[in-house]
Amino acid sequence: MSRRVAPVALLAGALLLAGCGSGDDSAADLSVSGAYMPQPVSDSMAAGFLTVTNAGGTEDELTSVTSDIGEVTAHETVDSAMREAKDLTVPAHGTLVFRSGANHLMFEKLKRKPRQGEKVTVQLHFAESGTVTVEIPVTSATYSPKTGH
Ligand code: CU
Repeated sequence: MSRRVAPVALLAGALLLAGCGSGDDSAADLSVSGAYMPQPVSDSMAAGFLTVTNAGGTEDELTSVTSDIGEVTAHETVDSAMREAKDLTVPAHGTLVFRSGANHLMFEKLKRKPRQGEKVTVQLHFAESGTVTVEIPVTSATYSPKTGH
């Protein structure tokens, strides 16, 4: 007859605390770093990686991504299969990371094939911060960042 009530009560308390905030009500303050796109093998598809850092006290949400080079969607990898990820959160004082094997930006219906040394321009659209434009350098097909996983 020992029902585990205590953990539920703890969780509810934690959620309440989070909802009240910590007194830090500064707006979302986003910056993008570590962007790269390995030169794709395919003529029609490519993947991009970057990190969005939020220095502000308010979370933000990536609502869509656009580019003049083709169609872009945010993808997540679940059980080694990828699917579209909707409304990814950038936590307050946190990061939203796109990296190889996990979340990535998926470029499809490419109008031209990105080549090493070029840059691909994308617009990240956020619910709070509006549009952030990022120039993604195209790296070698086998590039992976030194700090990568
Ligand atoms: Cu994908």
